[in-house]
Amino acid sequence: MIPNEFMFAPSVFAVEDNYLICVASDVEATVCVKIGDEMFYDSSNGILRSKKYLHMVEIPMEVLDKEKKYTIILREYIERKPYFPTSNEPVEYTVDFSPLEKTENINISYISDTHGRVEMPSKSGRYFGEKLDLLVLGGDIADHSGEIENFKTLFHIAGNITEGKCPCIFSRGNHDLRGQCAEMLADYTPTSGGRSYYTVHLGPIWALVLDCGEDKSDKNAEYGYTVACHDFRLRETRFIKKVIENKAVEYEKENAKYKLLLSHVPFAQRYPDPFNPEEEIYTEWCKLCRENVKPDLWLTGHKHTAEIRPVGNPDDHFGQPCTCIIGAKPDFKENTFVSANITLSPGRATIIFADTEGRVERTEEISF
Ligand SMILES: [Fe+2]
Repeated sequence: MIPNEFMFAPSVFAVEDNYLICVASDVEATVCVKIGDEMFYDSSNGILRSKKYLHMVEIPMEVLDKEKKYTIILREYIERKPYFPTSNEPVEYTVDFSPLEKTENINISYISDTHGRVEMPSKSGRYFGEKLDLLVLGGDIADHSGEIENFKTLFHIAGNITEGKCPCIFSRGNHDLRGQCAEMLADYTPTSGGRSYYTVHLGPIWALVLDCGEDKSDKNAEYGYTVACHDFRLRETRFIKKVIENKAVEYEKENAKYKLLLSHVPFAQRYPDPFNPEEEIYTEWCKLCRENVKPDLWLTGHKHTAEIRPVGNPDDHFGQPCTCIIGAKPDFKENTFVSANITLSPGRATIIFADTEGRVERTEEISF
């Protein structure tokens, strides 16, 4: 039983070589995680946090991959006074964790564009049931970041689908940038030290997570001078070049059997104005990935469709580096949600678009 102090089941997000074990709690509490004999803490320079509802505890992947079990220890505070704070006895919750170790038949579910909904995407994302190896949450999970509460959607869905038993990867969407709390997004979502673009080394999977930011020019009246995404994307170009420089410890690492590109926006398409803020930068990102990283599969969302776009398809304007899957089709009027459920094996992937009831809409096999 999940303790009452937890809002949802925990979730485990992968960033670079670390896991972030995420626990949301509606009581004032500190959270630490015990793995084997080692303790890990949600802390700031030696101080355990209790003022945020979201607790994120960073664990080196190798530690959890070896033990395959973690215990969350939550201590609720009665009064956190400067001297002699008072607290309840801690509650503990242990989860058996399945690291991504197998090298074929890897089951990945992709969810995005949930726009604040929890139930439908949670059902659709459970297509593989206990056989799920990795969940990708591809942005626009909350409808906007106007309230700090909105960040809970990500952890609610991730907890519902995985129960903290297998890893997740998060890639941010454009709607996540909107609203007065968006500037705190990095405190409430998995990032690499605050950066929403990063690489992930997850057993045989290597992933490059890119973030397009907003989907229109910084000058668009809709943003009212609150974004500087052009500069953000220029930094990201430098990051991609750095990843390529470090390819020996990134995508050319011996255990990187599968290379995934993850981004909310399928940025190889030229969208009609005003949705086309960065033709030059996106062309460069496509070229850098196509000529260097050479990903096997690109998982995206944003368009609210279920599509498989091969290289050279009519919407491939900037030079796709590989087959692009647009993986989530919500229909909020009809109360259905289609997710992309992918099984990876050497040189091939089976993609199953399935709805809330697990009904298969379309199955396709692709080679890479
Ligand atoms: Fe979007």
